[in-house]
Amino acid sequence: MVSLPLAVLLVLPAFSLADPIHIPLTRRAGNWATHTNHLAAADFARSRYGYGSAAPSTTKRMQRRAGGAAGLPFVNQEGDSSYFGTVTIGTPPQSFNVILDTGSSDLWLADSACANCDPTTPVYKPDSSSSFVQKSQTATQISYGSGAVAGFVSSESVSMGNFSLTNQGFLSVEQTSEGLLSGSVSGIMGLAFVGISSTQTTPFWQGLISASQLEAPLMAFWLTRFRGANNVKEEEPGGAFTLGGTNSSLFQGDIEFINMAGPSTPTFWLLSVSGITVQGKAVTVATGDAALAAIDTGTTLIGGPTADVNAIWAAIPGSSKVGATMPGYFQFPCSTTINISIAFGGKLWPIDPADMNLGPGQGTARSMCLGGLFDLTLGSNIEANQGNPTWVVGDTFLKNVYSVFRQNPLSVGFAQLSDFAGGSGAPGAGPSVPSTATAASATTTSALVPLLIVALSTALAQLF
Ligand SMILES: *[C@@H]1O[C@H](CO)[C@@H](O)[C@H](O)[C@H]1NC(C)=O
Ligand SMILES: *[C@@H]1O[C@H](CO)[C@@H](O)[C@H](O)[C@H]1NC(C)=O
Ligand SMILES: *[C@@H]1O[C@H](CO)[C@@H](O)[C@H](O)[C@H]1NC(C)=O
Repeated sequence: MVSLPLAVLLVLPAFSLADPIHIPLTRRAGNWATHTNHLAAADFARSRYGYGSAAPSTTKRMQRRAGGAAGLPFVNQEGDSSYFGTVTIGTPPQSFNVILDTGSSDLWLADSACANCDPTTPVYKPDSSSSFVQKSQTATQISYGSGAVAGFVSSESVSMGNFSLTNQGFLSVEQTSEGLLSGSVSGIMGLAFVGISSTQTTPFWQGLISASQLEAPLMAFWLTRFRGANNVKEEEPGGAFTLGGTNSSLFQGDIEFINMAGPSTPTFWLLSVSGITVQGKAVTVATGDAALAAIDTGTTLIGGPTADVNAIWAAIPGSSKVGATMPGYFQFPCSTTINISIAFGGKLWPIDPADMNLGPGQGTARSMCLGGLFDLTLGSNIEANQGNPTWVVGDTFLKNVYSVFRQNPLSVGFAQLSDFAGGSGAPGAGPSVPSTATAASATTTSALVPLLIVALSTALAQLF
């Protein structure tokens, strides 16, 4: 997911190829973690969002104790750009790395018929599997900006760890845009809801819940931070992904669960931003349904609506828009420590300043650093109450908390990381929120159609 052709064509005077990190001998020495990639990635995030105590449910537990919880292998790719896990598919099983993405809902894998996949991308071989079933004779294509993936909706036996489903729908991908997949990654595992599935398939994690395989209806993440470290390898330990429960050695204090916001038929994992502080002072931002935020492990940075992002950067002395070369991005004096905290109806969760600092520009811009918060909507006329997120809260935030995605009741929880997991800042008291954070406004499906474009931009959102 590095080195899109698009990125190569861009000329970025201030922020070109300022790659401070050396990649050891790995398969592709792409310009990962460059500012150029950030630019493309912001556009893909825009495309995705339609702009240019974890106690198990008691009843469930009494009915079934057979379900399990398991920590699964998890890798940090390209300096916190993306996080992948391993899925096995087929009979006999073939094993692949897939981005674990709470911001999309389809499973897709490059297959052996993929003509224009990178030759180094490991590909799934349907011909070598007795459980492969092609479900559709017509190709499903997902388009975005400068490229697309296309393939056939199929079904297979799919496993993660010891959890398995036999007729899991997925897209067996035969065409991708050049440079779409990077390193050892072969596809994406979408972990959001069927409402935004381009293959109209129940996502794997929900299938496991229906099949009573999970001890608790939970997925939990600890995402490691390598940003700012020296000699970061293309692949580093990712932290932990736990299916079916939480891992108490990875967090401290309580998990603060906030009820899902947004449409009554779930799409993305959505919360409403209820308050933001910058350098310790509250900044006025839109709240409620006008502040819907997708909590998205598959997006590297944080994007927000124009007015709010402007207000946040206005509170950082010396900051400015990067300008036409990187629309929506801001720069700030590298000597400034940025402390931003975000609340979603409860506590204010602080973001480590290292995560907001994407590094310096070049030449005369060397004293200015690129910020990890960009303008997602770029002045679009966002209509509130339509279920469209105006924020995407990606890994820049999620590295700072233990995050838990809960099916029942639908909610997202955050907790402070344990010392073992690297620790994180203690949450502060959040702003008081009128009544409850739950917003179940009825939303028509058509309002969500623009969001369906994106199973693909998922992959691209990994670009940074
Ligand atoms: C998976 O393994 C864990 C232990 O690692 C166990 O607790 C759980 O029951 C297993 N799950 C399934 C579905 O077999
Ligand atoms: C919890 O996390 C620790 C540290 O990563 C790991 O050693 C342990 O196996 C995990 N436990 C489970 C149940 O996943
Ligand atoms: C940022 O937070 C840290 C830790 O709380 C504090 O020491 C520092 O002074 C803060 N910086 C600013 C500019 O508020």
